[in-house]
Amino acid sequence: MSDKDRVYIFDTTLRDGEQVPGCQLNTVEKIQVAKALEELGVDVIEAGFPISSPGDFNSVVEISKAVTWPRICALTRAVEKDIDVAAEALRFAKSKRIHTGIGTSDQHIRYKFNSNREEILERAVKAVRYARKYVDDVEFYAEDAGRTDNEYLARIVEAVIKAGATVVNIPDTTGYCLPEEYGAKIRYLVENVDGIDDVIISTHCHNDLGMATANTMAGLINGARQCEVTINGVGERAGNTALEEIAMILRCHKSIGLQTNINTRKIYPISRTVSSLMNMPVQANKAVVGRNAFAHSSGIHQDGVLKDMSTYEIMNPADIGLDGNSIVLTARSGRAALRSRLEALGVKPEDAALDQLYKAFLKLADQKKEVNDDDLLVLAGAERSENHHIKLDFLQVTSGVGVKPIASIGVDIAGEKFESAAVGNGPVDAAINALKNIVHRKMTLKEFTIQNITKGSNDVGKVHMQVEHEGKVYYGFGANTDIVVASLEAYIDCINKF
Ligand code: KIV
Ligand code: ZN
Repeated sequence: MSDKDRVYIFDTTLRDGEQVPGCQLNTVEKIQVAKALEELGVDVIEAGFPISSPGDFNSVVEISKAVTWPRICALTRAVEKDIDVAAEALRFAKSKRIHTGIGTSDQHIRYKFNSNREEILERAVKAVRYARKYVDDVEFYAEDAGRTDNEYLARIVEAVIKAGATVVNIPDTTGYCLPEEYGAKIRYLVENVDGIDDVIISTHCHNDLGMATANTMAGLINGARQCEVTINGVGERAGNTALEEIAMILRCHKSIGLQTNINTRKIYPISRTVSSLMNMPVQANKAVVGRNAFAHSSGIHQDGVLKDMSTYEIMNPADIGLDGNSIVLTARSGRAALRSRLEALGVKPEDAALDQLYKAFLKLADQKKEVNDDDLLVLAGAERSENHHIKLDFLQVTSGVGVKPIASIGVDIAGEKFESAAVGNGPVDAAINALKNIVHRKMTLKEFTIQNITKGSNDVGKVHMQVEHEGKVYYGFGANTDIVVASLEAYIDCINKF
């Protein structure tokens, strides 16, 4: 593979992806994702925005220590203090990059900065020069480049290259561009910017109109050699370009002649890990990693696939690490099988944690016979919530036709035991009312989603909730074969975050 055919994968799951409300990860979880990204073979990990919070700062420090091969990148605004803090957070990184930039569209210049094009250009140049005092590798982003006038964009890109930028990022921040338009923008820069051959052009596409992947591909075909992506396409609003889609497009369409360093067999495990840690389900029909991505249900398709896979499958499930034979465990499966399946999913428990998980696994296997990957990831997640302040001790509900639903519950709040009972218009309402009798806080349930049950009535049900408290919305998750218990757990998860 020559340098000009190599596409660098810049993963921003831990920065742009993690900005999704309710999907924040703690530092330990971020390290787990960063290590899985390293195994996947990404070139750059954007580990956070250090000035934004002490948590983000600390995550960049810890990821820098934990990861060896990928370059660690920290985001800043075009502000000296941001750059100082980013440089400090990156001090342990073996290989590092500062990502600085500013809005360049007229909308950003006028309304966000109350400024003008010349002043913004000066600020961009100053920021890049300042960042170069700390690191050799500085990436500049022209925020909202998708809606920025190409001539002005070319001027600013040329100026930051002269100031020392090594990578120039052309974000379609609002997901507005059409693929032809975005591709032409990249081509325009390739053809009109002095010094562009000495730097890498990066794509950074959002999915507001469902065109993030198409735009990224248009950018690559027209000369970009880095793409900024997230696992499962997570990210604010409709999300970012999905890493797995770009990796598999380039693998399936060899004629494009571009290659990445991604070990595609690690795609499925990391997809499940990120989904589980962020409590963010992957939609069933999601390209590459969705539950139905390889499920042929129509008779004609099944017949064709049975005769020869190539009739309807353009990718081999094994190429993304989906090993159909080993995704179901039963009560007869031993610790070693559990460990091996968890490891395939990117979860690497210590011995003591494995013992706990194994007990929980056996309990679940008794309830539902076959335990699948999603169930295992939920179990691994339950272990993470053991340090919660409020825990559910017991729940008993009576409901049905001709009776008023009633729930009695017991909770443990920081070691103290409380009990209560209440009625409601259904079992979940009754359980939440009983909880509210104990936790005297003003709170309103804003959203309540039960994830579809995939394998029969004995499956684990997953509940996502949003609860408003003092003007802020908190996200919670619960999973159980009993949907009322899952709902109450999700509600308690929200309260634990107040
Ligand atoms: O979408 C965007 O413009 C960004 C930049 C901060 C890189 O995320
Ligand atoms: Zn973005």
